[in-house]
Amino acid sequence: MINTTKRVTLTAMSALALIGSGAHAQSDTVKIGVILPMTGQQASTGRQIDAAIKLWVAQNGNKAGGKKVEVIIKDDGSLPDATRRLAQELVVNDKVVALAGFGITPSAMAAAPIATQSKTPLVVMAAATSSITEASPYVVRTSFTLPQVSVGLAEWASANKIKKVVSLVADYGPGYDAEKFFAERILFNGGQVIEKLRTPLRAPDFAPVLQKVRDANPDALFVFLPSGQGAAFMKQFGERGLDKAGIRLIATGDVTDDDQLNDMGDVAIGVVSSHHYSAAHPSPANKKFVEAFQAANKFRPNFMAVGGYDGMRLIYKGLDTTKGAGGDALVTAMKGQLFESPRGQVLIDAQTRDIIQDVYIRKVEKKDGQLWNIEFDTIKSVKDPGKNR
Ligand code: DHB
Repeated sequence: MINTTKRVTLTAMSALALIGSGAHAQSDTVKIGVILPMTGQQASTGRQIDAAIKLWVAQNGNKAGGKKVEVIIKDDGSLPDATRRLAQELVVNDKVVALAGFGITPSAMAAAPIATQSKTPLVVMAAATSSITEASPYVVRTSFTLPQVSVGLAEWASANKIKKVVSLVADYGPGYDAEKFFAERILFNGGQVIEKLRTPLRAPDFAPVLQKVRDANPDALFVFLPSGQGAAFMKQFGERGLDKAGIRLIATGDVTDDDQLNDMGDVAIGVVSSHHYSAAHPSPANKKFVEAFQAANKFRPNFMAVGGYDGMRLIYKGLDTTKGAGGDALVTAMKGQLFESPRGQVLIDAQTRDIIQDVYIRKVEKKDGQLWNIEFDTIKSVKDPGKNR
């Protein structure tokens, strides 16, 4: 019997291989295929990045490398099978010069083989598991990695008499990275993670784990949850009285997410976190970015928006260098880009294609009736510690 499924896959793969770098070089238009979760649990990531891409185009025009740029946005609902299918369609049918977006790690991982097969640059604007850049030589990242932000927070904790910690992470790639790199550094500094808890990526229930945290009675609870889950978590942390019980909450900035921070209420005040971006980052470039973003959208940009905005810069400047060509030339033109982002100075590491950036230690404070992540310490030029191990 003929295996039709296999035949279809092989045909699609041959089509991908044929696309290569030259197929779109003749056209006056280059297309950028953006795949985002616009619906479902991770929809806030899609909303933020979509708004940032539109702001970039409004400010910088729709031309790059002498070509007209067309951005195509597709919704994968954060389902990796949909991501893979959409990436394939964007490459084969639309002949995009670059793929971009990718709200969660499983989506980025699902699309990476398509980037490799078709030699299409794939710009990760959101997902943050360290290993994603190793999934394809065509992956370039403008977001961050969990090891990058977790080590600095462990250093801060150790320097602030936090010795006994319970960790709580989402049960998938970025959670494992956060859990591992935070625990290693705490241990190195003479402290200990006494219990490692995990909650499912989809529809997590925080009640049972928070009871375990209470029973373990640590100096601090360290948390990583993906963007969008912070407010629900924070509410339960407060309702269960863990703050009153003297358990200090420390987290990656994904939890004290600028997208939701004002909905969290006073329980969030004083929470120390580490991250690469705060909407309160006190630079002129960021003030301009936040003002323009808020004027256009009536909501505050978060770290996802900055990943999207900088991803557009990376692609535009790359296209300027290649005069609109894609493929290997475009990846090469992305490597080594150095620029001032709203988050601060960033560099695309030419070796790893990952982002080198400052990591900030911040505390949630109320200013003029609004909650902000106020930066009080900076770890300069942090390279992803997850590489070369
Ligand atoms: C990932 C998703 C997030 O929303 C986030 O804040 C960090 C990492 C991810 O899936 O890689």
